[in-house]
Amino acid sequence: MTTPTIGVFDSGFGGLTVLRSLIERLPHARFAFLGDTARLPYGSKSRRTIARYAAESAQFLVREQGAEFLVIACNTASALALDAIQDAVPVPVLGVIEPGASAARKASTTGDVLVIATEATVRSHAYAAACQARGLRAIEKACPLLVPLVEEGWTDHPVTAEIIDIYLAELRSEATAHGLRPDTLVLGCTHYPLLRPLIEHAVRPGVKVIDSAEAAAQAAVELFNGRVAATATGASAETEVRCFATDSVEKFERLGSHFLGRPVGHVELIDLGG
Ligand code: DGL
Repeated sequence: MTTPTIGVFDSGFGGLTVLRSLIERLPHARFAFLGDTARLPYGSKSRRTIARYAAESAQFLVREQGAEFLVIACNTASALALDAIQDAVPVPVLGVIEPGASAARKASTTGDVLVIATEATVRSHAYAAACQARGLRAIEKACPLLVPLVEEGWTDHPVTAEIIDIYLAELRSEATAHGLRPDTLVLGCTHYPLLRPLIEHAVRPGVKVIDSAEAAAQAAVELFNGRVAATATGASAETEVRCFATDSVEKFERLGSHFLGRPVGHVELIDLGG
């Protein structure tokens, strides 16, 4: 069996949470990860700009790194640019929205779901549509302060906890006003798994928290099944990971290990233009 290269793309290094879940499930694969750190955040940009940036990034992973599969770890790019990415590269592309919605479907018994994400993801209503296609009702909320707080390393900070409480209280009120009884919360952004302990503390008892990173990694295993030897035993020393960034390489190396759960090693700086 050959060892294909799986390209993993995010607007920044938050997508390392998806790579971490992929490595745990596919420790014998080769991975090329690109964080488009020069153009982060995607979450506040227009569909057109996100599509252009994401397509260029996907082309780098396929043309220059030989990726045979792409996992779009970025929720914003998955929500607004999956078609543009698929048009730009001749390889299978998996986004995080559909796996996240499928995981919510499995978890929810009331059929009512909460989703937190970036502004652009919420504006696209991609999660609401994917949930609706599975018979779920979803209420989405943009939480724009959370990405910068995670970038700042404030993943266990009282200010972050307070902001999460406020966002979730607003979301709950909206759900109640719409007559929903949500029992599941989808983390629809690469950065939010880093806040999982604070978020789990803030949700009502019995509400299940769905990590779209884990859901996407599981879907990738199913998609790549037979091409890459999968095991459930976690990362092995032989997992080959190459990381690329368009800017802020030092910050990527410094904070990336927190997202990846192991040292990211040397990060190569690349230029995708403006
Ligand atoms: N990667 C983005 C996402 O998952 C968050 C960071 C950004 O806004 O670029 O939606």
